[in-house]
Amino acid sequence: MAAPIPLNAPIPLPLPVFKSNEYYTDSQWQTLFALLDAIIPSIVVDTEVTDKNNQLSITEAQCREAYERTKRNLKHAPSYDKFKEYLRVRPVDNPNFVEETKRVIGNISKGNKKELGVVLSVLNTRLGSLVATGSLLPLQEQSLEVKETILQSWNQARLNFWPMLGESFFKMAKSTFLQTDPLFHEISGFKHHTEDYKPGSGFEYEFMQFPAGSETERVTADVVIVGSGCGGAVCAKVLTEAGHDVVVVDKGYYFPPSQLPMTPQSASEYLYEGKGGMQSVDRSVGMLAGSCWGGGGTVNWSASLQLQGFVRQEWADRGLGFFTSQEFQDGMDRICEFMGVTDTGRPNHGNKVILDGARKLGWHAKACPQNTGGAEHYCGSCHAGCGSAEKRGPSVSWLPAAAQAGARFIEGFNVSKVLFDESTGSGKAVGIVGEWTSRDEDGRVNMSDSEGVFRRTVEVRAKRVIVAGGTLNSPLLLTRSGLKNPHIGKNLYLHPAAGIHATFDEDIKGWEGGILTSVCTSFENLDGKGHGVKLEASVMAPHILLYEHPWESALQWKLDALRYRQMANYISLVRDRDTGRVYADPDDGRPVVAYTPSAFDRAHLLTGLVAIAKLCYIQGATEIWSRIPGVPSFVRRRPVVSSVGVGVSVGVNEEGKGIAGPGEGVGEGHADTDDDDIAQGINDPDFVAWLRLLEKTGLGSPRATFGCAHQMGTCRMSARPGDGVVDPRGRVWEADGLYVADASVFPSASGVNPMITNMAIADYIARGVSRGLRRVELKL
Ligand SMILES: Cc1cc2nc3c(=O)[nH]c(=O)nc-3n(C[C@H](O)[C@H](O)[C@H](O)COP(=O)(O)OP(=O)(O)OC[C@H]3O[C@@H](n4cnc5c(N)ncnc54)[C@H](O)[C@@H]3O)c2cc1C
Ligand SMILES: *[C@@H]1O[C@H](CO)[C@@H](O)[C@H](O)[C@H]1NC(C)=O
Ligand SMILES: *[C@@H]1O[C@H](CO)[C@@H](O)[C@H](O)[C@H]1NC(C)=O
Ligand SMILES: *[C@@H]1O[C@H](CO)[C@@H](O)[C@H](O)[C@H]1NC(C)=O
Ligand SMILES: *[C@@H]1O[C@H](CO)[C@@H](O)[C@H](O)[C@H]1NC(C)=O
Repeated sequence: MAAPIPLNAPIPLPLPVFKSNEYYTDSQWQTLFALLDAIIPSIVVDTEVTDKNNQLSITEAQCREAYERTKRNLKHAPSYDKFKEYLRVRPVDNPNFVEETKRVIGNISKGNKKELGVVLSVLNTRLGSLVATGSLLPLQEQSLEVKETILQSWNQARLNFWPMLGESFFKMAKSTFLQTDPLFHEISGFKHHTEDYKPGSGFEYEFMQFPAGSETERVTADVVIVGSGCGGAVCAKVLTEAGHDVVVVDKGYYFPPSQLPMTPQSASEYLYEGKGGMQSVDRSVGMLAGSCWGGGGTVNWSASLQLQGFVRQEWADRGLGFFTSQEFQDGMDRICEFMGVTDTGRPNHGNKVILDGARKLGWHAKACPQNTGGAEHYCGSCHAGCGSAEKRGPSVSWLPAAAQAGARFIEGFNVSKVLFDESTGSGKAVGIVGEWTSRDEDGRVNMSDSEGVFRRTVEVRAKRVIVAGGTLNSPLLLTRSGLKNPHIGKNLYLHPAAGIHATFDEDIKGWEGGILTSVCTSFENLDGKGHGVKLEASVMAPHILLYEHPWESALQWKLDALRYRQMANYISLVRDRDTGRVYADPDDGRPVVAYTPSAFDRAHLLTGLVAIAKLCYIQGATEIWSRIPGVPSFVRRRPVVSSVGVGVSVGVNEEGKGIAGPGEGVGEGHADTDDDDIAQGINDPDFVAWLRLLEKTGLGSPRATFGCAHQMGTCRMSARPGDGVVDPRGRVWEADGLYVADASVFPSASGVNPMITNMAIADYIARGVSRGLRRVELKL
């Protein structure tokens, strides 16, 4: 137990040892790494080239010029030597980069693995190479210069196939580089935990243990809850404190504050569903959902917003009167009070842009309450777990309270089925069954079949079963258990989000401070029916922000990445009207999401992007990236109004990059020196022209991609049996004794970040379950 505690840093978690070369042949791997190498190559001044085949050369003058530009753009520029060292870095020579790439690919679905394998093989044939590159020479034998040109030509291709193919390689290279390159971290100053890191004291969990053996292990309880996330944890506390015998199980594991926040690789490995790499079938939406002890509550950003009136009314109009009742409001208030939800957070630069910018534009923005027990909690790493334990998520507040009242917990328990009473065939749920995987002898979770790790089949028999596995998993569990209701898995809402990021003329260090502490609500009702967007600040970790940063050339991307320290990241998050569905992958049972944001919802997202660009502009952004394919960045030429209101003159556009080029009229302003722009505000003609291009291009392209951390609705609550999966008390229409109590029961998208709504519904459902159990006890 007495592991040495690193000074001022979370205890690192070992990753599973990677068993290499299982999926692809050597030549397939070579082709892949040849591509990644061309995306982020080593870039060296021509007189200093040491390895002609593996270094992209530039002239001394080019290098100097790039450095001068970097110095102008950055308050904390590296020395010239450091700068050259950074350009020289060759990621594919870094064993961590290689291993991480292989690990990521190892965890994509079987189907996707096969697809990628085919592409890699084809690129390695003469004919395939001819089609993809216009040359008979297999891709990996081309020079770096030629490979770069090929990647650029994919970007420009008319057929969407090529840019989309390119995009998946770009993202892989960028994300892995940003996670594994020590020099990038050193120069930018980025740390995945706060400077003054000190772990909070965690709750001493005692999880149930089972000895090795081949027979089914049996446990009995009044209530078994599947999932320790936001819904499950609230149910656990309510039911245990009401005196019932409760068992909570989760397929994920518990990690104490001393191990949080995790490095990006460990966070993907241990905290997220699908190792953090889930995408919709058409790859339009990337998804994050928590899968660990505490579920989404362990990785969420603490934004604690109550459901708005118009959504409550919409749900009440579907016959669900609870949502306009005092009881619902009391529930949300109880939840917020227990978690210490307050808006004392000191906004960081990114969040201040929303608050101050909205004021200047006459829009409405407000501080976003946080569940941090009143603490200021100036920490930007919560997406990788909260080390201070200030964020009062399920593992810090709800589950310990349940434990103190006597709840029992099982981690590492993957539930495969709900069990029904076979004897009567009554459709009454009587428990669950699944597979439990032990930790290893030393309590580690980097799984393998050796080192004392073993699996047991465990059955938990209970009078009531509450499924709270989250929107992606709960419907799959119901289907696996034999339920037939056609609504199961349908009605999937995602709150898809489109992003904008921008640089400012200040030393921001945007990864510090609460991630999401303000929200602009002026565009939330764009159709008169409550569909529209919220504008929020987003997570700043470089591998999440910059992997979306457009790649136009190797040098441009590497240089832009250096400006990370002065960037801010925003999302336009839509309350989606149109839905998708989730079903099981036939190969391995994992959730597959079929969802394509509709034209209707994309139009709203675009309105949000335009609004965010205006917020950034008015607060002095020096360059703005919309990430819309085909729209160059906006580069400001005029004097910048700094946030303290003094005109500062900067010339950020000498590089002539990031603009549409001559003749397109974007960013083609005149380098005035007067203060026009202060008077013009967002009427700056350059900016207006760029916004017009943004709107004209729009988000219609299949290449446009979106993010999502809010999955809802796949077991929707309905007033009548034919309209949904659960009744107004959360009971599954098709079966007795079986309840769903997570975000999947939302009748439609919540519009606000869903946690508080989810918890208040879970609280209500749990109270109903408790009353039902009491009635049974009274009868006995
Ligand atoms: C990165 C991120 C940031 C977010 N930020 C915010 C925010 O700031 N504000 C907000 O309101 N919301 C936020 N959310 C959303 C919020 O966290 C979720 O809406 C909420 O957690 C959903 O709760 P749930 O009860 O539906 O399921 P979850 O919290 O997802 O919990 C489900 C649990 O069930 C377990 N499970 C699933 N299947 C099985 C099985 N077969 N056997 C055993 N266990 C199983 C999973 O491991 C998981 O732990 C964020 C989400 C993410 C991912
Ligand atoms: C787990 O991590 C430990 C410590 O780094 C390592 O020795 C061990 O081999 C790992 N186990 C597996 C199965 O990857
Ligand atoms: C993820 O990668 C690990 C390590 O290579 C592997 O053991 C595991 O089976 C992979 N998981 C999936 C779902 O492919
Ligand atoms: C994060 O999740 C925890 C646990 O579910 C919850 O207590 C907290 O309110 C959440 N914060 C928000 C709303 O993001
Ligand atoms: C969990 O169980 C389900 C159903 O038995 C299975 O499809 C899935 O692959 C399992 N997941 C893990 C991570 O073992």
